Amino acid sequence: MLVHWLGLLAGTALALHPVKDFRTASLQKLKGGVSKQNVAIQVPGKSESNAASYTISTVSTLPSLAPTIAVSDKIQYVLTDVSQSIYYINTTFTDTETQYEQTFQLLLDSGSDFTWIYNQSCSSGACTRDLVPKFNDSRKINSGDKFELSYSGDSVSGDILSTSSTDKTVFAFGSLQLTSFEFGLADEAPTIFNDFNVSGILGIPSQSEDHTKRSMFSQLYNEKIIDKPVFSLALVASNQQIEYSGNVSALPDNYGGLMFFGSEVAKNQQTFTDSVKYLNIQSNDNAYWLVNVTDIKLFNDSYSGDFDISESSLQAIIDTGTTGMALPMDDADNLHSQLFGSSLVTDSKGNYAFPCDADANITISLDGQKFSISVSDFKGDEYGSQLEGYCASKIQGLDDNNYWILGSIFLRRYYAIFDIQQHKIGLGVNNLLLYKLKEVKPTSITSSSLSSSTTVHGNSSSSQSTKHSKTSLANSSGLIAGLSYALLCMFAYII
Ligand SMILES: *[C@@H]1O[C@H](CO)[C@@H](O)[C@H](O)[C@H]1NC(C)=O
Ligand SMILES: *[C@@H]1O[C@H](CO)[C@@H](O)[C@H](O)[C@H]1NC(C)=O
Ligand SMILES: *[C@@H]1O[C@H](CO)[C@@H](O)[C@H](O)[C@H]1NC(C)=O
Ligand SMILES: *[C@@H]1O[C@H](CO)[C@@H](O)[C@H](O)[C@H]1NC(C)=O
Ligand SMILES: *[C@@H]1O[C@H](CO)[C@@H](O)[C@H](O)[C@H]1NC(C)=O
Ligand SMILES: *[C@@H]1O[C@H](CO)[C@@H](O)[C@H](O)[C@H]1NC(C)=O
Ligand SMILES: *[C@@H]1O[C@H](CO)[C@@H](O)[C@H](O)[C@H]1NC(C)=O
Ligand SMILES: *[C@@H]1O[C@H](CO)[C@@H](O)[C@H](O)[C@H]1NC(C)=O
Ligand SMILES: *[C@@H]1O[C@H](CO)[C@@H](O)[C@H](O)[C@H]1NC(C)=O
Ligand SMILES: *[C@@H]1O[C@H](CO)[C@@H](O)[C@H](O)[C@H]1NC(C)=O
Repeated sequence: MLVHWLGLLAGTALALHPVKDFRTASLQKLKGGVSKQNVAIQVPGKSESNAASYTISTVSTLPSLAPTIAVSDKIQYVLTDVSQSIYYINTTFTDTETQYEQTFQLLLDSGSDFTWIYNQSCSSGACTRDLVPKFNDSRKINSGDKFELSYSGDSVSGDILSTSSTDKTVFAFGSLQLTSFEFGLADEAPTIFNDFNVSGILGIPSQSEDHTKRSMFSQLYNEKIIDKPVFSLALVASNQQIEYSGNVSALPDNYGGLMFFGSEVAKNQQTFTDSVKYLNIQSNDNAYWLVNVTDIKLFNDSYSGDFDISESSLQAIIDTGTTGMALPMDDADNLHSQLFGSSLVTDSKGNYAFPCDADANITISLDGQKFSISVSDFKGDEYGSQLEGYCASKIQGLDDNNYWILGSIFLRRYYAIFDIQQHKIGLGVNNLLLYKLKEVKPTSITSSSLSSSTTVHGNSSSSQSTKHSKTSLANSSGLIAGLSYALLCMFAYII
C-alpha cells in the first residue's frame, strides 16, 4: 500500500491558529518611537459580525462600450467569503449508481497539489457546520491509498478516492464533467476552516507528471473537455463595476471573480489587460507556482530605492490559497522598517502595523518583469484605542520560510494565466473597470443534465431586459479584514 505523507505548512506566525483579521493583540511596542510596550491592544472579537464585508459594485446600466462576458461552461464564477479572505469554486460529485449527488465548495489553492473533501465520518469542528456538506456516497470506491496532511498540530487525513470512467461517477466543475479524478476524503479537518463555508481544498499543482489524476486541469484536458490545460483568474477588484443581466435573478452574493478554462483564457485576455508578461515556473518537488525574484524596489513619500534581497536566489510562490503575502521573517522586518521608518509597530513575530495614512509602493520584479502593489493592497483594518491611526499590514513574516508567498492581495491586480503545459504563469494588469456579466446557461449540473449534451441553451441577449442592480454591501473600507495564512502544502511521498 502506498502511504502518502503530506506536511502542510502554516503560513504565518498568526497562522498557527486560525484568524480572520490581520490585527493582533501581540503588537506591543512602537519601534524606535514612543514605547508602547505591554500596552494591551484592542483587537476585534472573532464573531463574524466584526469581519468587514467587501463590496461589489453592481449597477443597472453601464456605457454600451463596456464588454460583456458570458458566464458559461468554460467561464465560471469564482466565489469568495464575506471578507474576501478566501476564493473557492463549486464542484459537484455525482454517483449515478447510488443516485448520490452533492455540491461542494472547495477553496482554490495553487499552493497545494492535492484535493480533499470532508467525509461523512469527520466530526472535527470544521466538518460539523450546518452550511458545509460532507461527502456521503454509500458506495465505496476507495483506492486503498491513504493521505495525511499535518498543519502545525492540526491534521487532515483519510482515504484517497480514485474514480475512473467505469465507475459511473462524475466530478464536475459547473458543467465540465470529469470521469477520472483522485481526491482525499478527510476523516478529520483542521481548525483553520472552522469559520469558512468550504468542504475542503481544490489543489492546483503547477505540474502533474507523476499524478495526473490529481490535477483537475490536466484531467479536464486529458478527457478532452477543455482544449488546453490552462486556466486564468480575474478576481474582482474594489474599483470594478459590474452590470449583471442573465438567466438567474442576480449575480451571486459572494461573487469573487471569474475563472476561464482552455481557449477562453486567450480569448478573454484583451478584455482585461493590454499585455501579459509570462514567467517561467521553476521546477520544484511541491508543484508550486514558483518564479524567480530578480529585484525589489520600495517607494515611500520621501524615498525610493532597492530592497536588499536576503538570499542570492530569491523565489516567489503565486498562491491563490493565501490571503495576504508571507515573507521570510528578515525580509518582512526589513521591508516594513524601510517603508515606514520609525513609525513602524511590530511584535517581532511577523506582524506589523503602520500609520493608516502612509503612502508606499512595492515593485517586485519576477523573471525581470515588474509588478507593483500599493499600500492600499496591503493595508488592513485600523487598530483601536492605544494604536489609533495605525493599520494592520497584510504582509507578514514567517519563520522557516525561504519564499515570498504572493497571495490574493497580489492576484487581485492581475489577470493571471496558469499554464500547466507550458510551465508558465502569465500576469497582466487587470485594467477593466466596467464589465457586463450575463449567464448563457446554468453553471451547475443536475442529475438530469448528466446524460444531456452541453450545448448552450437559448440566446441570452434576449434576456437583456432582466437587469438587476445591487447597491454596495458595505463600506469599501471593508476590503480589509482577512484570514491570514498561507495555505502551502509541503509533502513527501513515503512508499
Ligand atoms: C457562510 O454562509 C453564511 C450563510 O450564507 C453567511 O452568513 C456567512 O457570512 C458565510 N461565511 C463566510 C465566512 O463567508
Ligand atoms: C454553488 O453551490 C451552492 C450550493 O449548492 C449554490 O447555492 C450556489 O448557487 C452555487 N453557486 C454558483 C455560482 O454556482
Ligand atoms: C466516510 O464516512 C463513512 C460514514 O461514516 C464511512 O463509512 C467511510 O468509511 C468513510 N470513508 C473514508 C474514506 O474515510
Ligand atoms: C448519509 O448517507 C446515509 C446512507 O445513505 C444516510 O442514512 C444518512 O442520512 C446520510 N447523512 C447525511 C447527513 O446526509
Ligand atoms: C504609489 O503608486 C501610486 C499609483 O501608481 C502613485 O499615485 C503614488 O504616488 C505612489 N506612491 C509612492 C510613495 O511612490
Ligand atoms: C531562477 O533561479 C534559479 C536559482 O538561482 C536558476 O537556477 C534559474 O536558472 C533561474 N531561472 C531563470 C528563468 O532565470
Ligand atoms: C521612507 O523611507 C526612508 C528610507 O527607508 C525612511 O528613512 C523614512 O522614515 C520613510 N518615511 C516614512 C514617512 O516612513
Ligand atoms: C435558463 O436556465 C434554464 C434552466 O435553469 C434553461 O432551461 C434555459 O434554457 C436557460 N435560458 C437561457 C436563455 O439561457
Ligand atoms: C443571438 O443574438 C444575437 C444578437 O441579437 C444574434 O446576432 C445571434 O444570431 C443570436 N444567436 C442565436 C443562436 O440565436
Ligand atoms: C463609510 O465609512 C466612512 C468612515 O467610517 C463613513 O463616513 C461613511 O458614511 C461610510 N459609508 C457607508 C456607505 O457606510
